[in-house]
Amino acid sequence: MAGIAFLLNGTPVRVEGEPPTRTLLDWLREGRGLCGTKEGCNEGDCGACTVMVTDAGGSRALNACILFLPQLDGKAVRTVEGIAGPDGEMHPVQAAMVAHHGSQCGFCTPGFVVSMAVGHLNGRRDHDDVLAGNLCRCTGYAPIIRAAEAVEGAPVPEWMKEDAAFISAQILSGGEAAGRGGQTAPLPGFRPASSDELADWYVQNPGATLIAGATDVGLWVTKALRDLSPVAFLNGVTDLQQIERQGGMLHVGACVTIAALREAVAERLPSFGELLRRYASEQVRNAATIGGNIANGSPIGDGPPALIALGATLHLRRGDAMRSIPLEAFFLDYRKQDRQAGEFVAGISFPESAPALRCYKLSKRFDQDISAVCGCFNVTVGGGRVTAARIAFGGMAGIPKRAAAVESALVGQPWTEATMRAAMAAFAQDFTPLSDMRASAGYRLETAANMLLRYFHELSGVPVSVLEVQP
Ligand SMILES: Cc1cc2nc3c(=O)[nH]c(=O)nc-3n(C[C@H](O)[C@H](O)[C@H](O)COP(=O)(O)OP(=O)(O)OC[C@H]3O[C@@H](n4cnc5c(N)ncnc54)[C@H](O)[C@@H]3O)c2cc1C
Ligand code: FES
Ligand code: FES
Repeated sequence: MAGIAFLLNGTPVRVEGEPPTRTLLDWLREGRGLCGTKEGCNEGDCGACTVMVTDAGGSRALNACILFLPQLDGKAVRTVEGIAGPDGEMHPVQAAMVAHHGSQCGFCTPGFVVSMAVGHLNGRRDHDDVLAGNLCRCTGYAPIIRAAEAVEGAPVPEWMKEDAAFISAQILSGGEAAGRGGQTAPLPGFRPASSDELADWYVQNPGATLIAGATDVGLWVTKALRDLSPVAFLNGVTDLQQIERQGGMLHVGACVTIAALREAVAERLPSFGELLRRYASEQVRNAATIGGNIANGSPIGDGPPALIALGATLHLRRGDAMRSIPLEAFFLDYRKQDRQAGEFVAGISFPESAPALRCYKLSKRFDQDISAVCGCFNVTVGGGRVTAARIAFGGMAGIPKRAAAVESALVGQPWTEATMRAAMAAFAQDFTPLSDMRASAGYRLETAANMLLRYFHELSGVPVSVLEVQP
């Protein structure tokens, strides 16, 4: 790889001669001797490898184990070694971890410290969310949360502000500050700056692997040891990172992260926002894109069921040709999507408000877990009867799928519990789920049907708490 440059713990570095799918974690530990950043799971789950990355969008925590070096070009990276001050003074979160006994074996501690320092920098007080992607096996979370609470409102150390200042200076000077300069040799990893560039290149290289957030693709390298070349990195395609509101619709570019999407829907689609809060962890949401979540076609992805229930339209582009299809039509069969060679996901459009939308995610852990079942309901009632219904599920079939028979059993019927109970029987027509390590087929079918009843109670104003459900 020729020529990427970024700021590492306050010092400009230039990296050359590495394969494009070299992870930041391996490079830090093996190439730079920065072994404070730990390798735990090497698949984005444990947060031991958390680093702070700053770009024009701000500073965020990311998992270095599933972050490829070219994704960092022009950014600033701060590892745990750079969280302490230049003269060795402790960051307030480090001092608080000591004072509150937040570390025992210490393996998880660097990752926690980086996540806490980023949360502190960004003025976050939702510590459970900030730290849900950091796993600790021995200390327990209470002392760590106490440490995070203890530094709320403490001044941000000057050295923690330097990365953002550097990025601003770099933008003002046209990107020369990190020594980016011109590229003297062709890059094995293509890094388009616009969707036009991507479209031209992808038509010429239809067998290439597109890499957006790398929260799926990263594991193909770290776990499956696959050679992905040629690859294109989409994180510089700024026109696919836009969110626009127009005529009651949200138009979301494919490269919008789950974190940014969550913010955009939080107020007017709160149930979708809450579903996205439970999507993986802070670090994964900061990297993963909605385009990648849709394009990988996973039957247990959380984005598609909610978007299908909202009646979303998917926009695809191949060369200069654009086409738009209902999102549910994109998923043809297990891991088979309606996407031609050289065609990519450009974006998705859906209503910015849907008061009746409710999304329910069932997983073994509340945070940082993939859905066993994800059910999303959007039912319209008029004059006491159901006039329209869009119900979609993940985890119930080989693809994210609408519950067509359940919808038919509802439409035209009175909005009553008796209607719901009758419609619950239709789930068996729509779905023949699998038994796997997440849940049995019987559990999936029963809980999916129960979600309809819960939805009815919630919309009818009956208080529903998952804690009250009898086993
Ligand atoms: C620890 C962990 C927890 C997770 N938890 C969840 C969870 O709770 N819920 C959930 O839904 N998912 C979860 N995931 C899965 C993952 O985060 C998502 O599928 C993610 O949205 C993928 O987006 P990405 O940008 O990282 O895609 P990438 O990994 O970059 O790409 C994924 C696939 O999409 C293709 N692709 C990417 N962008 C485009 C595009 N614009 N056009 C065409 N093809 C494209 C890639 O070539 C690849 O085939 C988790 C992953 C990890 C590692
Ligand atoms: S090593 Fe576990 S998240 Fe990176
Ligand atoms: S202190 Fe041992 S894993 Fe957290």
